[in-house]
Amino acid sequence: MKVLVTGGAGYIGSHTCVELLKAGHELVVVDNFSNSRVDSLEQVEKIAGRSVRIYDVDLLEKEKLAQVFGEHSIEAVIHLAGFKAVGESVEFPLKYYRNNLIGTLNLCEVMSEHEVYQLVFSSSACVYGIPKQTPVPETANLQAINPYGNTKRMLEDMLEDLSSSNENWRVAVLRYFNPVGAHPSGLIGEEPKGTPNNLMPYITQVAIGQLPRLSIFGDDYDTEDGTCVRDYIHVVDLAQGHVSALEHLSTGVHTYNLGTGRGYSVYEVVKAFEEANALSIPVQVVERRPGDAAVSYADPAKAERELGWRAEKGIFDMCQDAWRWQKHRQGGNG
Ligand code: WQD
Repeated sequence: MKVLVTGGAGYIGSHTCVELLKAGHELVVVDNFSNSRVDSLEQVEKIAGRSVRIYDVDLLEKEKLAQVFGEHSIEAVIHLAGFKAVGESVEFPLKYYRNNLIGTLNLCEVMSEHEVYQLVFSSSACVYGIPKQTPVPETANLQAINPYGNTKRMLEDMLEDLSSSNENWRVAVLRYFNPVGAHPSGLIGEEPKGTPNNLMPYITQVAIGQLPRLSIFGDDYDTEDGTCVRDYIHVVDLAQGHVSALEHLSTGVHTYNLGTGRGYSVYEVVKAFEEANALSIPVQVVERRPGDAAVSYADPAKAERELGWRAEKGIFDMCQDAWRWQKHRQGGNG
């Protein structure tokens, strides 16, 4: 298929592009490079041994986006472009509503105008807020607790309404749990700007000596060791989930959790990282971070049943690949 990937230069996007190319699809990428660099796509081409058409387009510039659809016979879209930092979304909600909502609105309008009705949409476990039950099934209540999560939930609603209005739409909504790790080649990975907000990039920066120690946000939760439990999923598994979703699109909107179905506490992740890479991570326990759920992990059974997809990589792979990528970046090639 000829597939347009929005946000294809980003962390999830670059890994998804590799897997799409490996599966034989032809790619057109649009990205505004606000949180990514064009180099990542050069690395994608190197890993896959195939080329990608790249357009520097912001989804808020609808005319430019329409031009890309005019130039290519796009058959399906994987929509990953969006702002994703929870804390920043609390501070600057309008920035998130404008970018995520209007960008997706423009995309769907342009898709309709060009009669492209196949869409894989990047959503987040964030739409569940603090889950009342674990593992979390797709049918759990949606109660996002921050503007970022609200934009994803609103967009899920918009896609439902759109598909009700026209039965040509074939949409997969993918709710990611905690994507971590990097491509095993060490050539692509996550590139947080400034101090990382998320656990794994923070750990790798402590490991390389850029940060002195990891602050653990609370060890008095109602969990086995007192630290929060999450469903970490290797980004290559997640990327393969997009390929499966694309290849199983069917009429209507179908929503899937992408996770491993297994939770790890913060202490367990630190220990796994230390063992996988034979080094030690200094830690200190600090105050809880507002908005953190004690436990969140996926019930990924629906994705396995309907998409034939399941996460294969374990926590050691995640830790080793994250560390290989951090060292590669430090070497100045990343
Ligand atoms: C994981 C655990 C922290 C940093 C967020 C979004 C979610 C998705 C993934 C986009 C928690 C603890 C973290 C640190 C710590 N993103 N932690 N010290 O919050 O589960 O999910 O990212 O869609 O929507 O909400 O991920 O990596 O920030 O935290 O102790 O320096 O690590 O408290 O328990 P989170 P995270």
